[in-house]
Amino acid sequence: MRLDRRKALGLGLAAAASARAGQVAAKPHFLWGAATAGHQVEGNNVNADIWLLEQVTPTVFAEPSGDACDSLHHWREDIAIVKALGLNCYRFSIEWSRIEPTKGQFSQAFLDHYGRMVDHCREQGLAPVVTFNHFTTPRWFAAEGGWENPQAPELFARFCDRVSRRVADGLSHALTFNEPNLALGGRWSASPPPAAFTARMAACIAAAAKASGSSRFSLLMGDKDPRPMIPHVISAHRLARAAIKAHRSDLPVGLSLAIPDEVAVVPDSALERKRADVYESFFAAAAGDDFIGVQVYGRDYIGRERSVSAPPGGPRRPNGQEWFPSAVGNVVRSVYARTGKPVLVTENGIDAEDDAERARFIPEAVASVLSARATGVPVLGYIHWSLLDNFEWLSGYGPKFGLVAVDRRTFRRTPKPSAEVLGRIARSGGVA
Ligand code: BGC
Repeated sequence: MRLDRRKALGLGLAAAASARAGQVAAKPHFLWGAATAGHQVEGNNVNADIWLLEQVTPTVFAEPSGDACDSLHHWREDIAIVKALGLNCYRFSIEWSRIEPTKGQFSQAFLDHYGRMVDHCREQGLAPVVTFNHFTTPRWFAAEGGWENPQAPELFARFCDRVSRRVADGLSHALTFNEPNLALGGRWSASPPPAAFTARMAACIAAAAKASGSSRFSLLMGDKDPRPMIPHVISAHRLARAAIKAHRSDLPVGLSLAIPDEVAVVPDSALERKRADVYESFFAAAAGDDFIGVQVYGRDYIGRERSVSAPPGGPRRPNGQEWFPSAVGNVVRSVYARTGKPVLVTENGIDAEDDAERARFIPEAVASVLSARATGVPVLGYIHWSLLDNFEWLSGYGPKFGLVAVDRRTFRRTPKPSAEVLGRIARSGGVA
């Protein structure tokens, strides 16, 4: 989803004993990884809420996700690329709507599918970092009120329990939610979405409700104020963490938050008010977690009331955006200072048609993370977004975040030079 990235995203378990022994032996010191998310790469995720929103008229999506990168069938190849690059970690997500396409009916075949992915990562010596919710939920869940539904936390925890029974033994780290604070952050944006876009979003969601035979179709990043949903998401995180840990108490569990490097531009800046609004409830929820995931896509300048545009003068990218790869290191330091939790960079990257930009971006970004680590911040790893050029939500297949290009007709994967840059850094354990 795009407009600016933030606004558009603003749509809004191996045999127990042996895998466990393998897990301890294979646990790398520092995770060097690349990430994907189910809906963005698997293709034909037909029972998901977002799939329906892509199909209805009107829609706010530039194009439907369709076959995506067909990772549902090409996942072994994806894992082989991660390994060949010299990375030691693969982050991917589990699609709730495949595991539970109809409320209360769980697919053993898809539980096994994701189980095989986890097992295969382990066999290849890779640490699997798995996200249980990367934005999408089943259509039936959205039609029952999504995260507005008071039963949502139990429903999500039940899904996490089923999945964990199969995969928990093999995992390296588990993330309950991907960026559950994104919609809150969008409310502080320098340029709120135009009224015409908001109206189209409401019409798209109304069409999805109608197609579901329901009076509602609710998403965290939909057309409604996300604030009343946040307590349910937080309670879902806590119940999910307990459900996952019930299968493996020593598995590190956390969530990932979207956090830009924030700069106050005036003395009476709204920075602390924004932080209190967008992160504090999640930091409080993460107090019982083992780590915190951070996802960084640049810097945010905060004026008196909201974010403002970047001041003129600094280095710029060819597309006019600010060039500031070391934002990620600043966020790592600041989040550790505020939470005291080990930090895992679960996403960091750029949308760049010209891969040479990404190849320049990666060493600077990684250096900023390693410099934070050198000053004593417990950083668990750096996971780049994304392994593949994939379905970028509202924006469709236009934006290119991938280390690897994907031919959308043949699904042929072609690693780009930037992939080799990250691989070289990972193999040498740092930036030369
Ligand atoms: C999301 C990804 C998205 C990426 C680039 C992150 O906020 O987790 O799903 O593709 O940003 O916009």
